[in-house]
Amino acid sequence: MKKIFIASDHGGYTLKQEIIKKFSNRLNFKDLGTKSSKKPVNYPDYAHKLCKNVAKNKLNIGILICGSAMGMTMAANRHKKIRAALCYSVKNTKLSRLHNDANVITLGGRLIDKNLAFKCLNVFLNTKFEGGRHLKRIKKI
Ligand code: RB5
Repeated sequence: MKKIFIASDHGGYTLKQEIIKKFSNRLNFKDLGTKSSKKPVNYPDYAHKLCKNVAKNKLNIGILICGSAMGMTMAANRHKKIRAALCYSVKNTKLSRLHNDANVITLGGRLIDKNLAFKCLNVFLNTKFEGGRHLKRIKKI
């Protein structure tokens, strides 16, 4: 069964909570923390925890949020079965699914407008990988 994992550091905490609030009527999130915007934590700890869970099933999806989305993206993409996309527009989010079959979306909680983040997540969850010529390319990653 497909599971949706979400995690953030302190810099992404507020957006994580907003996303959970906005989508929880239709999505069941597995929230892996952090639990506060006040207590500084280290983003790789959350990226690694989430990616280990996402990698267990190819239907799984992950949402990672830190201040800029940079650190979470870097840490997540160290994992073999993870393709994490730093999403900042509807168009780049759509392409991350169509062409790259991204299984983790990363968002910059301190940089992206909340409503744009919601739109990106919606597109991420509802766009299918095109396959075809893109499949051999992602296999080469
Ligand atoms: C934390 O201050 C900040 O460095 C982190 O959230 C993230 O932006 C790192 O890439």
